[in-house]
Amino acid sequence: MSEIGHRKNDHINAVLKSDVRSRKTTGLEAVVFEHVALPELDFENIDLTCPFLGYTLQAPFLVSSMTGGLGIAKHINETIAEVCQSLQICLAVGSQRIALEENQQDGLNKHIRRLAPSVPILANIGAAQLRLLNETGSLLKLIDMIEADALIIHLNPLQEVLQPGGDKDWSGVLNQIDIAVRSLATPVIVKEVGFGISARVAKQLWNVGVKIIDVAGSGGTSWAAVEAARAPSDLTREVAETFRDWGISTAQSIRMIDDLQCGIQIIASGGLRTGLEAAQAIRLGASLAGFAAQLLPAAVEGAESLNAAISKLMTELRIAAFCTGSASITELKRAAIL
Ligand SMILES: Cc1cc2nc3c(=O)[nH]c(=O)nc-3n(C[C@H](O)[C@H](O)[C@H](O)COP(=O)(O)O)c2cc1C
Repeated sequence: MSEIGHRKNDHINAVLKSDVRSRKTTGLEAVVFEHVALPELDFENIDLTCPFLGYTLQAPFLVSSMTGGLGIAKHINETIAEVCQSLQICLAVGSQRIALEENQQDGLNKHIRRLAPSVPILANIGAAQLRLLNETGSLLKLIDMIEADALIIHLNPLQEVLQPGGDKDWSGVLNQIDIAVRSLATPVIVKEVGFGISARVAKQLWNVGVKIIDVAGSGGTSWAAVEAARAPSDLTREVAETFRDWGISTAQSIRMIDDLQCGIQIIASGGLRTGLEAAQAIRLGASLAGFAAQLLPAAVEGAESLNAAISKLMTELRIAAFCTGSASITELKRAAIL
């Protein structure tokens, strides 16, 4: 397996086996809903559906990008695709860098689309790699490889500078995103990986035509902690640990971008563990809630476990809607908070 392949497997192992969470919270706990003791609703009739990229999702959920690598990654991606199809929610694959650079599409090919024919599938590539492969042809290949509905470009500058062999030259990245947006017919979504996106950065992205941003804020998986867990020396581990709690919390990032009132569609992710947290994020202005590390153990276990884990999130979201007197996701967005 190549160096990048090993790195990806290390990431999965670190998230599964080590404590890699930020010590700070997502900030979502500060969103306190009015408990409506008279909901005047039939719980079973609450409508959790929401539109996304031309599809109707059965719940405003996304299984966030986790893996594009080989071996166990193939099994994980296939399980995620199968369950997202059965529950009719959105799925994002992990970085397709290996698939592109090393021409190894194991687990990331049209089979994913066959497993999930009627839900949105999001392709994924790192912003720092754009410069190396920003001929439109390469980006189209990423999308075509899995017949994706949109391309996620992830921003992970902190992770790249902390990881051995990471891409440290981030000059000209916004221009590369601009080129990608202009040259692709499919939408481009920009996300962080757990340190959040500020209003200023969101505006820069909006100005080059990015219309959907996944905040991936702090409060959950800390990629500084992941890099600390796999650091080759005490020195690099200590440097990485220094930044474990870095970043803009998920709640703060949603708020700042929503306050811009410019029409950016916000995906909330970073540290989400429950359907109640998804409800809180939606109330702050998000239209979808993304889950990564919370679902990884179940995805590794298999389709039944993952189905149960996501169904639990749906039940929790439905309860939050019920107890706020919200008959739908649209109403939940306006639910009273204290
Ligand atoms: C094992 C693992 C691998 C990941 N790989 C990618 C990736 O390839 N591309 C990407 O954009 N984000 C990747 N992420 C980041 C997640 O999509 C997400 O933004 C981040 O983990 C924060 O969400 P969480 O707190 O729910 O884990 C990965 C996360 C995990 C747990």
